[in-house]
Formats: sequence, C-alpha cells, structure tokens
Amino acid sequence: MTSTSESRAVGADIERADARAKVAGRAPYAFEHPVDNPCYAHAVLSSIPRGRITAVDTGAALQEDGVITVLTYENAERLASTEDAELAILQEPEVAFRGQIVAAVVAGTPETARHAASLVRITYATEPHESELKPDENELYRPESANGGAETDSMLGDLEAAMEAAAADPDAVTLDETYVTAMTHCNPMEPHATIAVWQGDELTLYDSSQSVHGHRDTLAEVFGLDRARVHMICPYVGGGFGSKGEPHAHAVLAALAARAVPGRPVKFALTRQQMFTLVGYRTPTYQRVRLAAGADGRLTGIGMEAVEQTSRIKEFAEQSANPTRTMYAAQHRRTTHRLAHLDVPVPSWMRAPGECPGMFGPEVAMDELAERLGMDPVELRIRNDAPVDPESGKPFSSRNLVACLNEGARRFGWQDRDPRPGVRRDGRWLVGTGVASSAYPVNRVPGSVAAVEYVGEGRYRVDIAAADLGTGAWTVLAQIAADRLDVPLDAVELRIGDTALPKATVAGGSAGTAMWGSAIVAAAQTFRKRHGHDPSPGDHAQAETPGNPHAERFAMHAFGAQFVEVRVDADTGEIRVPRLLGVFAAGRIINPRTARSQLIGGMTMGLSMALHEETVTDPRYGLLVNHDLANYHVTANADVHRIEAHWIDEDDPYVNPLGIKGIGEIGITGTAAAVVNAVRHATGVRVREVPVTLDKVL
Ligand code: MOS
Repeated sequence: MTSTSESRAVGADIERADARAKVAGRAPYAFEHPVDNPCYAHAVLSSIPRGRITAVDTGAALQEDGVITVLTYENAERLASTEDAELAILQEPEVAFRGQIVAAVVAGTPETARHAASLVRITYATEPHESELKPDENELYRPESANGGAETDSMLGDLEAAMEAAAADPDAVTLDETYVTAMTHCNPMEPHATIAVWQGDELTLYDSSQSVHGHRDTLAEVFGLDRARVHMICPYVGGGFGSKGEPHAHAVLAALAARAVPGRPVKFALTRQQMFTLVGYRTPTYQRVRLAAGADGRLTGIGMEAVEQTSRIKEFAEQSANPTRTMYAAQHRRTTHRLAHLDVPVPSWMRAPGECPGMFGPEVAMDELAERLGMDPVELRIRNDAPVDPESGKPFSSRNLVACLNEGARRFGWQDRDPRPGVRRDGRWLVGTGVASSAYPVNRVPGSVAAVEYVGEGRYRVDIAAADLGTGAWTVLAQIAADRLDVPLDAVELRIGDTALPKATVAGGSAGTAMWGSAIVAAAQTFRKRHGHDPSPGDHAQAETPGNPHAERFAMHAFGAQFVEVRVDADTGEIRVPRLLGVFAAGRIINPRTARSQLIGGMTMGLSMALHEETVTDPRYGLLVNHDLANYHVTANADVHRIEAHWIDEDDPYVNPLGIKGIGEIGITGTAAAVVNAVRHATGVRVREVPVTLDKVL
C-alpha cells in the first residue's frame, strides 16, 4: 500500500458524486423512469373517518374519454396477505380513517385520471369516531414495546419518593410539568410515487424508497410472490425523512392497478395533499416530565411519561421516553409510553422518531430547573452528565456531551450571558439565547452485503443496494470503498438502489453509512486477501456487515449541544432566529461537506418543529385541516439565518470498524427545546408546547 494519509478518501471534503446529474436533470426520481406505453392512476380517498362503503358509482368516471378502469373493493384483485391493514387497500368496504384509499382511476393521462377520480361517487354509512389525542379523555393502553423494540417502561429506584423527599427539603428543587409536541408530517420534495410493471408473474417497481430490499420483501408478501419475482429500482430519492422507510399503500395501489391493465405499466404519484394521510406522520405527544434535584443541581429523580396516538388498524408506538433513559444521571427514574388507539391515519417514522419529540420536554424542563436553581443551564447539564449509561449500567463506548456543551458555549459566546429573562431589547426586538442537548443512539441493523469486482484498467465496481435520500450515500460509500481498496476515488464505480444488487438494509435510524460502509470494508478486505493488489478483470469478493463484538458491552450514542439566539417582536410576537449553532460528537465524519449538510438540515427541521410545523385535526370530521404546503408551514430560506454545525474529533473504536456513529437524525434532536428556552430568555414567557406560534408569547 502506497497511499499516504493525505490521499485518503475518508474524511475528504468532496462534492457529491451525483451533484451534476441532479442539477442537469439526469438523476431520475421514481415517477420519471421511462417505461413503454404507461397509463396513470389517481386515487380516491375516503371522506369519512370511520364506517363502511354502502355504494360505489363509477359510471360517470368510466364514461370519460381515456379512462381505462376504475378500481374499488368490489373489483380489485384479492391480495395474498392482508395482515398489514395499512397495505390491504381495496379489499373490504370498511373505512378506518379519513384519507384512506377507497378507489382509483386508471387512464391514459394523469389529467384524465385525476378528473375522473373526482367523478367517482361513494356512499358511506358512518360510525362514531375518535380522531383527537386528548390524554384526559382517550382510553390509553400500554403497548408491548415501543418503536425499534424499545422497552415500554423503565423504573429504577422510587421516583415518587424522590419527588416527595425533594419537596420536603427546603434546599432541593422539584419540577412537574407537561410538555406538548404537535402532530407533524414528513414533506420531502419528491412526493411518494411508484411505477409498476408486470411481466407475467414478475413485478418491477420503480419506487421512491429508503430501502429497496425492505419494500420488495413486504410487497412480495402482500402479493404472494416469491421475492425473486419482485424487483425494485430506486437510484435517487428526493428526500424521505422516514416516510419512505417502509412501503405504504400507494405502492400496493400501483401494483394492483397495473395488474388490472395487462401489458401496460402504471405510473402513480400521490399529490402533496394525499401524502398527509398515506405515508405516516409523527404522533402528537404529551410529556409529563418530573425532576428532583439538590441545591447543587444534581438530579435525584427523573421521570418522563409520554402519551401518544396510534391508528386503530396498525400500531406504531413512538419511543419518545427513550432518550431520557440515557441523558442524565439520577438514582430514581421512571419512563413510560402510553397510547390511544384513534380513527386516524397510521403514524410512522419521521426524522429521529422518539428522540426528536422526546428531547423536547426534558430539555425544556432542564432549562426550567436551572432557573429554579439559579444555575447556568450549561453548567446544570454538565453537572448531571452520566459517567455510565444510567439505566443499563453499561459504560459508554464514548460520550462527549460535556465537550459539545463546552465547545458550543465557547463558539457561541455563552460566557457573557445575562441569565435574567425578558430584559434585553434591541429596538422593537426582545433578544434571548437558549441551549439544549442533542442525542441519538448508534443503531445496528444487520444484513447488508457488499460486492467488489475488479473490472480492469485500475477500476473497481462496488455494489450494494443502498439508498441515497439526498444525504450523500453515493458519495461517502465510494469514499469508503476507495479508502479501503487503497485506490483513487475515481477508480470506484458504485452502484446502489436496485434489488438486483447485493442486499442492503434501510437508510434509516442514522445507520445507513455505518452498516453499508462496514459491509464495503469487509468486502474490500476479503477482495485484497483473495486477489491481492494486482487483480485480474472479473476477480470479485462479497461480504456481509460483520457483527459487533462490543455491542453488548457498551452503550453507544452520539451527543451534541445546540445554542440559539432568538429575537421576538415585543408587539406582534413574531419570532426570528438569527443564529443556530450546534456542536456534535458523532464519531468519524466521512465527508465534512455532506455531513455539514445533514446536520444543518436536521437543525433546520428542528427550527421548523419549534416555530412552524403543526398538523391540525378537526375532530368533528377526522379531517387534517391544513393538509398542503400552503397551510402546513415548513421553515423556508427566509426563516433561516446563520446556522453553524461543528463537530469534535471523536475516535470511537467500538461502534464499528469505521468509527461512524451516524448523523442523519441527531441534528433535529434538541433544537426545538433550545429555541423554546431562548424564547423564554428573550420574553420571560415559558412556552411548553411547540410550535411556538405568536399567540403563545403575547
Ligand atoms: Mo429515519 S426517520 O430513521 O428515516
């Protein structure tokens, strides 16, 4: 090996491999793949929240020129598996939520299909429904486990006793408050879309997906097909945030529609409005947080009890109490998850499920506690740093929360901060600053395989069915391969996003780069061992992501700290955020350019959660009222001023051979709390609910 460290691809600041293809329009998204003689589907969604269809009149739709067929539960093919009720569309007359697929028109053009869909007349018998999360009124239940297999509850020591003891001690401080996060929706730029092509019993899907193999396996089961007969292709994705992590009903509809039109592929894209009921969302949460601390600020008790909603037809238990189990030391602890089954769309992953909402209440509570103690909120967090994982008792593979807090405070200029709330004014603006911690676990998802082949003339092909959601996978996986094969970056021809390639696990849980990258490292090692440094064309090797021998010994998490400056108009309550600064400790950074983009993207989405994003339910009709981008506000360029993402050098030898912890999600955790804490500092108003709309600060 002759490379010096200067020529290493890992760690190099390089532009995206797909940058030019993207801006030149040569990177096709799902709907854009060329297929012969396609027709187009448009879905009809239920207009009641619960009940059953009593009559369907497709006559007017079928009379339109260019309409080929109208699918309903009466004529659609029976699915082989209806176990997943979210995917089992057009099988029964029952309606489980407003916005469920109840019919679809297939036509020669998308315009015809859409118009004819408006002509389908459906009559319903409605039943009483419950579509609003109200923890005091809903019937709550305890799920078996939370998302990702997290324990439903955890109890250590006796939180009640710790709260009582602190309340009785004049020097100690307690807090018992409820925090609320809104229902929010993933809004990737590229809508969810699928092209379905049947050739006999072979099904090819061009689908916007975070996991071609995962989606393929599920859809094969739904249609009762051998997995080898289902092929999914997805080289580029225009954003996902978790909403493309698992297949949703639209992919089933595309395949059902194409089945009904023999010999023709069907193209199907959800409209932006339809995405609000069909591709998952983040549940609203109510978080009761209890803290007890001595006069020195050391926590004696921590409680986090989350109440959330799920759909009556399919459970998704957001693991919001999870991060509390790891953040701070305290002897007495209690975390719980309780759910309400409602007649609502099926919730699912949205960027940092669990950790994102779950870092809101506790991190605002820590700010409130600091105030009650008369202690700096950075210092309070440092004082409660956990030397070992508080609930498992395991050592951390590396934990640099304190370093992030200190480095962030230094870069932000925190040391000169006047802690008094509501006293700084710049013209009409009230000015304040806030801080919160960030955290995200190092998730392991076994089962990815990478293949390396020498194609001649110094070039190597690297194959793995990974997904690039705009995150940089095309770039960083090529960097990892070049590094471990010890060749220049341009000697690597990477292929991803196709089930014809070796199997890859989901681009989710911030684990993609680590899991796929580890498979590539193993394949490169096997290749060199087998073929040396002077291979012949056709030489190849394949390897799976190895198991981690340290997995059981250590708790593995990334940490961070976010600092925010806000300005609040004293008269109108308008909130501006001129500065957001994050410092993260997330293991090795493969490419500073794509990493920075991921981190500031997460922070921007956190800012959006803090100030804008909220899906509003009209409980009378089970209607998501603001189901479009005109009414569901997402942070835009004008809302974002200076955002800085930094990281500290962190060498963690235990997480995986590359030392990667994952950066896709940590950037959104803690941001909303930091904004809310800064709003308090600026105005003196303590808000416990996001988004912070103007009415909450006036
Ligand atoms: Mo992320 S919500 O795990 O795609």
